[in-house]
Formats: sequence, structure tokens, C-alpha cells
Amino acid sequence: MNDLLPSDLFKGQTVFITGGGSGINLGVAGAFARHGASVAICGRTLEKLEVAAAKLSDLGAEVWYGSADVRDYDALEAAIKAAGEKLGRVQHLVCGAAGNFLAPAESLSANGFKSVVDIDLLGSFNACRAAFDQLSQGDASILFISAGQAFVPYFAQVHAGAAKAGVDNLMQNLALEWGRHGIRSNSIAPGPIGGTEGMARLAPGDEDFHRRFQRSIPAGRYGTPDDIGQAAVFLASPLASYVTGTRLVVDGGMNLQGSGLLTSLVMAAGRK
Ligand code: COA
Repeated sequence: MNDLLPSDLFKGQTVFITGGGSGINLGVAGAFARHGASVAICGRTLEKLEVAAAKLSDLGAEVWYGSADVRDYDALEAAIKAAGEKLGRVQHLVCGAAGNFLAPAESLSANGFKSVVDIDLLGSFNACRAAFDQLSQGDASILFISAGQAFVPYFAQVHAGAAKAGVDNLMQNLALEWGRHGIRSNSIAPGPIGGTEGMARLAPGDEDFHRRFQRSIPAGRYGTPDDIGQAAVFLASPLASYVTGTRLVVDGGMNLQGSGLLTSLVMAAGRK
């Protein structure tokens, strides 16, 4: 990846990324690392975080990692505090931790719905609240990882849609309230990102499924974790210093056409 922005863009700045051990969030962590940030990641699985931390160190970043479930406020607060003590105050927060699976509403249990809302929405608030003391020292940004499900209904995604719509509302409320503390708040809605756990869970299909799905995307391909990383770097950077309360859709145009094709592909794959 040829980065167009300076490699010391975030020098002396710390970014804390929930769910940073894999997938899109690790792509975001890598992009911050390549632009000079110190990077802190948390998640539920220590082994995954260890591997991710080694990759980020190889990119030249100072790294902190620790296990914390975003649903556990005390654990998350302790992690954000520890990261700030080791790397310097957390100036950028990425609320990336998410849980998802395909489940039609009529077979989704109340606890299944709650689990996803707890991770995505409550977990995002927990991270913001726990990081507030450090973020409010100024020139700070929060990025939420939203999804197309926040603004387009998707089959078997009632839980994720409700959670991500809530995330975008949280993003705008915090933009409104915390601007006076020097904190910008934005979200990114990634489209289908190849090779991630999310794709494996939400787009289960054979080669033909993926060929047809990719062909249907206006950009003609799945995204990469780095596509999202580049967008995150932009939104956290001084290039976006007047951008707050905005959702940036990074989906190759996929959501412009609604969710009809994916719905029919997923339903057909489920019937096989
Ligand atoms: N279909 C329907 N319901 C499901 C499900 C599925 N595929 N997977 C989990 N659930 C339900 C469970 O049955 C349970 O409800 P119940 O108590 O009524 O039976 C509830 O969700 C919680 O499941 P559990 O496995 O105990 O929760 P958890 O806290 O360990 O895991 C999840 C959270 C369910 C979101 C899990 O999928 C996860 O950990 N995901 C993280 C990774 C991820 O999703 N990445 C992709 C993001 S796009």
C-alpha cells in the first residue's frame, strides 16, 4: 500500500481500537500505525491480540494490547486507562468491536438480539464514556464502525440493523455534545470487506455466490481492510478537522442498490 499522507501524521498521538485484533479493525489499526500513531487494541481473545500486536509492532508502532469485553465497563475503563499510561493519552478512539450472524427475526432469540445490541451499541457508548477524560484534553476524534444495515434493511439482520442505527445516532449525539470538548465524532459504514470474519458469517456462499455478489457492486470488487483504514486515517486527520457528525459510507456503492440481490443470494445459499 502506497500511503499518500505523511508517515508521521499521528506522531505522538495514541489511538485506542476496540475489537482491534482482527478484520476491519486490524486494518484500521495498521493504517494508523503506518501513519506514526501509537496503537492500543483490546478484544476478548488474548491470543488473537498477541498476533495482531506483533504485526503492528512490525509496522514500527508502539503498541499496547489487553483483553477487555466492551460489555464490561470496568474492564474497558481499566484497559483505556492502562493504554493511556503506557502510550500517552488516548487522542483517537475507534469503536470497532461488533458481533453479528445471520438470523431471521422469527428464529432469533431475545438474548441473541440483546447480545448484538450490547456489543455494538452499549459497547460503543462504554468505550466513549470510559475514554472521555483522555479525549477531552482536546484535538480528539471518535470513529464508530457502522454498517449499511444502519440505513438499509437486510434480510436476517434485524439485530445488527437496530444496533448500527443506534451507533450512528450515538455518533451524532456525541458530535453535538462533545464538540465543545474538542472531540469530533464520525462513523464509517464499510461494505463487504473480503477475507474478514464478518464476510464469512454474513455472506456464506460458494464461488458462484461471490462472483455474482462482487459483480453486483458498482466498484466491481469487495473492499479490503485497508480501504477502511485509509478512510479512518482521513477522518481522524487534520484534513477532516471540520468534519463531525457524519457517516462516511465506504462500500464501493453497494448500498445504493438496496439489499435485494444479497438477500436473494443468501436465501438461495441457505436452501442449498
Ligand atoms: N443464530 C441465531 N442466534 C445466535 C447465533 C446464530 N448464528 N449465534 C448466537 N446466537 C444467540 C445464542 O443462541 C444466544 O441466545 P440464547 O441464549 O437465547 O440461546 C445469544 O445469541 C448469545 O450467544 P452467545 O454465544 O452466548 O454470546 P457471546 O456473547 O458469546 O457471543 C455473538 C456474541 C453471539 C455476537 C458471537 O457471534 C460473537 O462473539 N461474535 C463476535 C465476532 C463477530 O461476530 N464478528 C463479525 C462482526 S461483523
